[in-house]
Amino acid sequence: MGDYTNMSSYYDVIMTSGYYDYAQIVNDLEQHGPFANILEVGCGTGLILEEFGRRHSGANITGIDLTEAMLKQARERLAAYPAIDLRQQNVCSLALNKKYEAAFSYGGVWYFVIDGDKEPFMVSHIPGDADNRAGLEKLAAHIAPGGMLLLGIQGPHFDYEKEISNGMTYAQKIEPHDHGFVKHYYLLDDGRRVMEQTIDYRTYSWSQTLDMLGKLGFTPVPRKGDKFLAFRKTA
Ligand SMILES: C[S@@+](CC[C@H](N)C(=O)[O-])C[C@H]1O[C@@H](n2cnc3c(N)ncnc32)[C@H](O)[C@@H]1O
Repeated sequence: MGDYTNMSSYYDVIMTSGYYDYAQIVNDLEQHGPFANILEVGCGTGLILEEFGRRHSGANITGIDLTEAMLKQARERLAAYPAIDLRQQNVCSLALNKKYEAAFSYGGVWYFVIDGDKEPFMVSHIPGDADNRAGLEKLAAHIAPGGMLLLGIQGPHFDYEKEISNGMTYAQKIEPHDHGFVKHYYLLDDGRRVMEQTIDYRTYSWSQTLDMLGKLGFTPVPRKGDKFLAFRKTA
């Protein structure tokens, strides 16, 4: 269920070697705001929250993540930002006793893949359908009426390997299956495998996604920027 413990000690070096563009992610988030408070679902080691916190010191921000080894790094990284509240929680049983003007996830629990002109499809770190529905329902309950849900956009996944900034080689391998795909992540140091992580991702077509989110009161809003698809909680 989306556990990142194996990758955690190499996560930052992989992601900051060109995998994600954190400044652009926050630029695009800002286009949808401002928000009095904001929740990141699957905040990992806090790289987005650090960029956000630097630009909006004192902002009312919560980050949740399933993986304690990721959150430990987020706590260290964000020690200078006491207004950022970090919690270890699985979104499927999210309980924060608070409603947010916006919740977002970038590469976190749910995201969209957009491949050229094809319809977007949603990818989930949660393999079970019932768990996905429970998680989205819990998340919806934490978004205020009129609030926004922002889910990140990524390009299509494919097999590749490349050298990263510490000289190691990052590799990924995708194995499609009937309700999504399995993704294997590897890190090689001089040919020796130093990290291996496997995640079973579930995918939902655009119409399945609109149906699921629509039942929770979300309507898509026009796209701004290329990092997020946005939905407003209208019901
Ligand atoms: C690819 S990382 C993204 C981290 C961060 N958003 C970033 O951009 O660097 C995905 C994160 O989602 C978290 N995650 C996966 N499933 C989760 C769940 N069910 N509940 C909460 N967090 C989850 C993982 O622990 C991991 O830290």
